[in-house]
Amino acid sequence: MCGIVGYLGRQEAAPLVLEGLTRLEHRGYDSAGVAVLGRGGLKVAKQAGRVRDLTDVLPKRFTGTVGIGHTRWATHGPATDANAHPHADESGTVAVVHNGILDNAAGLRAELADAGVTLASDTDTEVLAHLVARSDADTLEGKVRDALARVVGTYGLAVVHADFPDRIVVARNGSPLIIGVGDKEMFVASDLAAIVRHTTTVAMLDDGELATVTASGFTTMRHTDLSATGKSASQVDVDASAYDAGDHESFMHKEMLEQPQTARAVLRGRLDDRFGTAHLGGLDMDARAMRAVRRVKILGCGSAYYVGQMGAALIEELARIPADAEAASEFRYRDPVIEPDTLYVAVSQSGETIDTLLAVQEIRRKGGRCVGLVNVVGSAIARECDGGIYLHAGPEVAVASTKALTNMFLGFALLALQLGRVRDLSIADGKRLIAGLERLPEQIAEILAGEADLVEVAHSLAEAESLFFIGRVRGYPAAREGAQKFKEISYRHAEAYPTSELKHGPLALISPDVPTVALVPADELTERNVAALHEISARSGPLVVVTHEGVDLGEVRARRIVVPKNEPELDPILLTIPLQLLAYHAAQHLGHDIDKPRNLAKSVTVE
Ligand code: AGP
Repeated sequence: MCGIVGYLGRQEAAPLVLEGLTRLEHRGYDSAGVAVLGRGGLKVAKQAGRVRDLTDVLPKRFTGTVGIGHTRWATHGPATDANAHPHADESGTVAVVHNGILDNAAGLRAELADAGVTLASDTDTEVLAHLVARSDADTLEGKVRDALARVVGTYGLAVVHADFPDRIVVARNGSPLIIGVGDKEMFVASDLAAIVRHTTTVAMLDDGELATVTASGFTTMRHTDLSATGKSASQVDVDASAYDAGDHESFMHKEMLEQPQTARAVLRGRLDDRFGTAHLGGLDMDARAMRAVRRVKILGCGSAYYVGQMGAALIEELARIPADAEAASEFRYRDPVIEPDTLYVAVSQSGETIDTLLAVQEIRRKGGRCVGLVNVVGSAIARECDGGIYLHAGPEVAVASTKALTNMFLGFALLALQLGRVRDLSIADGKRLIAGLERLPEQIAEILAGEADLVEVAHSLAEAESLFFIGRVRGYPAAREGAQKFKEISYRHAEAYPTSELKHGPLALISPDVPTVALVPADELTERNVAALHEISARSGPLVVVTHEGVDLGEVRARRIVVPKNEPELDPILLTIPLQLLAYHAAQHLGHDIDKPRNLAKSVTVE
């Protein structure tokens, strides 16, 4: 989605801002722009299209040591040059970049138009530029405060003003805003990825905070009354190389191959073999609180929702607590009953997905306890939750989630283990699960090592316009995730079904042109699964079967992909890894931009 970058210092701002914007390209955008403050006053350049297109057309004299830039994901109005940010007031004195949505923009636009202001775009953001320009406060902070007092909605924003050329004023409400401290230079950004090559000393604004940033430092304050909040910067523990694809042809490829290491990272220090349990200090729940849980409700969006379904199955199996997962994007709108003895679990890689964040807020408003499974430390969802489990997958850049998703599954396995061990899960079963979890990273590595063997089958799937992914019980969420990954990056129609449901409708679509990827682990349902494969085969449906060694497919003609066997509860994640590789190689075969799939964004920060 939208991205913000800003710079103040001794260097030319535009090249640094544009370079920062390219680091945010993976988040998804359709137009870009930059504003600089220099000797010639305020200059703005913006247009629909890619950052590199904007770089190519930037005027020679586009100079200044203070700058802000933006990549826009269209919400209010189409992706046009006029709607791109930064937005300026009529006199060209103020420029604003903004992430988020202003809910009362229509009313404010009408009010400004009535007052004789000519609006140059269809956007909500433009009103901010006019409101700042029309404030009679004598400081830029005061002008921004006055403008923010008029708007309702979410924002991370940065403002420059020709009369205050030494500063950028930034503010946050519901959309991330980071200040980076360099050597006699300062950065602002909506995402660490934009500035991590320059500095890892950062301060993250909280909702309701505003900050003045000058080349020599920053001060934070409440944006209602500008009283000081005294925030200081601290060092973040992040390796800048995590934001580089290195020798890999894409971030997704790099991130898939990192899974054995990142899986180890989420398990590290959390397994207690002596007592056959897990230790999750961040949950902030003692055994009594865990025993009081009567139900578990998991909320997430997209792949996080599907892995939530895997997590619910793990919790029911290991802890024998009724558990289910629901799309966070739907949950809040059905006026859910929040129960005091239900443990709510929000799952999110970015920690910024607005639907999940709003679901958490709804739960907490009604007195529910919500814990988070989140990858990005200090993100909005992590901060909103009562406690949680950090996923330690490292930065995930590709839109298609792989390593974070695997760690979500492992986070659920740890949670299920701990919930189970304070209830009826035996120490022997706890130890069995721990041994299985410890084997997993090596087994993931084994599947990834077989990548080359999957390329041809991925290419054949890429030829189909439409395909099915099927699985049962534990395998069904994995099938959903497989279909999700496939459609996200290959743009093929991939639909997931419970294998048991085929006969109830979709079998009508099976033909030689519609392949099926079937998940058939060696478990209590193998026979039933194989029976369904016969039905597909009898209708000449091409089959790719992800299965375990020794599973007898009888007469069924299929391409087999064999994954290592672990404990049955942990099957879903091992079944998922080859599906990532299939989606990846299908998309690559089709020549798609894998890290930036069309129409999609890394974190979905608008409803
Ligand atoms: C995953 O491949 C997708 N890009 C998407 O479904 C994603 O999982 C979803 O938008 C939730 O994101 P989050 O984990 O950052 O909340």
